[in-house]
Amino acid sequence: MFDNHLVKEFQNKETPFYYYDLALLENTLQAAKKGADKHGFHVHFALKANFNDRVLKSICSVGFGADCVSGNEVLKAVEIGFDASKIVFAGVGKSDKEIIAALENDIFAFNVESIQELGVINELAKAKGKKARIALRINPNVDAQTHHYITTGLEENKFGIKIWELDGCINELKTLNNIELIGIHFHVGSQITDLNVFKSLCIKINEINTWFEERGYYLKVLNVGGGLGVDYHNPDGNSIPDFEAYFNVFDQFLERKNDQEVHFELGRALVAQCGSLISKVLYVKTGLKKNFLILDAGMTELMRPALYQAYHQIERLEIKDSQTEESATANYDIVGPICESTDCFAKEVVLPETSRNDLVAIRTAGAYGEVMASRYNLREEIRYVYSDEILVK
Ligand code: LLP
Repeated sequence: MFDNHLVKEFQNKETPFYYYDLALLENTLQAAKKGADKHGFHVHFALKANFNDRVLKSICSVGFGADCVSGNEVLKAVEIGFDASKIVFAGVGKSDKEIIAALENDIFAFNVESIQELGVINELAKAKGKKARIALRINPNVDAQTHHYITTGLEENKFGIKIWELDGCINELKTLNNIELIGIHFHVGSQITDLNVFKSLCIKINEINTWFEERGYYLKVLNVGGGLGVDYHNPDGNSIPDFEAYFNVFDQFLERKNDQEVHFELGRALVAQCGSLISKVLYVKTGLKKNFLILDAGMTELMRPALYQAYHQIERLEIKDSQTEESATANYDIVGPICESTDCFAKEVVLPETSRNDLVAIRTAGAYGEVMASRYNLREEIRYVYSDEILVK
C-alpha cells in the first residue's frame, strides 16, 4: 500500500498522524452500497467509528444516513450535510439537551433504550409541539461471540429494553401522545466475523416482529444495527469486507412483512481499512531480554491495543529500489511514549532492523482510532493527512 512516493511524502510530515486513503474509502463505500442496494437495504454510518470531516463527507455523498450517539454527533451530521430524514439518534443515556437538539433538527428517529426514556422524549416533544418518531432498541440476548468489551446484546449488558419488558413498554406507549413508534432496533456487538451471529439475530428479530404484529402494531423499520468485522491481520489482501455475503444473510433470514424497511448501522466495516497511524521511531532500546521500539505515537493516538489488547498490523516503512537488499530482522515490543505500562501497541513483532527516525505504519486504524484519541499527558492535537493531498507522482 505504501509505495516509495508515499513514504517520501510521509518523511516530510510531522508525525504522528492519521493517513486516510480516500480512494480505498470510496471503493469500500461503493461495495457496501452495491451490496445494500441489491436488496433495497438502507445503510446508516455509525459516526462513533470516525467523525473526521473528510471521511464523513465521502460517506454522506454516497447517500448513506448517519447513526449518532450524542447531540454533538447529530449536529456534526447535520453540518456535514446528512439529510435529517436519514439521521438516527441512539445511546443509552441521552440528556434532555441532546434530545431537544435532535427534535429541533427533525431527525428521522430516536432509538430508545428504556421505558423511562420514552416518557422523557414524550415530554420534551410535547413542549415543542412535535411528535417524535422512535424505534425501540431491544436487547435480543444474542451472543455476538466477540470480545466481551464490545458485546452489547446480552441480558447482562446495559443496552436496550429487555424482551420481558416489552408488555410494559407497549402499555406505556399507549399513554404517550407525542411519540410515534416506527420500528425496532437491535445491535449485538462489534467486530463480528462469524456471519452465523447475524443469522441468529435475524431469527430473534423475526420472533419479535411477529410479536408486535400480533398485537396490531405496524413497524415500518427493522434496524439491525452494525457489527460487521474486518480482517485486521491482512490489511492489504482483504481490505474490503465481504458486504455481499453480509447483506445476503439478512436477505435470506430476515422476514420483512409488507413493505418493511431494513436499516443497518455500520461503522467499522466502512472505515477501518482506509486509515493508518503513521509514527516515527524515537528510540530503539536493546535489552537482554527485550528490544523496544519507542514510537512518537502512543495509546493517546490509538487506544485499541491498550484498551482491548486489539491487534493492529505494524509495518516499517522504507524507500525501496532495485538495489534494496533484504535486511536482517529483529524482534521488538512496540510501545508509545506515554507514562503507562499499557501503552504498548504490540509485543514480539518481527520487523526489519529498525533505527531512530524510521517510520512505521499501524494499519487498519480508520475505525475507533482518531475518535478515541485523548490529550492525556497533554499530548498534541491529532494530525491527519489525506491521500489526495499527497502530490501526484
Ligand atoms: N450501532 C450501535 C448501537 C452501536 O453501539 C455500534 C457500536 C454500532 C452501531 C457500530 O458498530 P460497528 O459496525 O462499528 O461494529 N471502540 C470499540 C468498538 C465499540 C463499538 C460500539 N458500538 C473498538 O474499538 O473495537
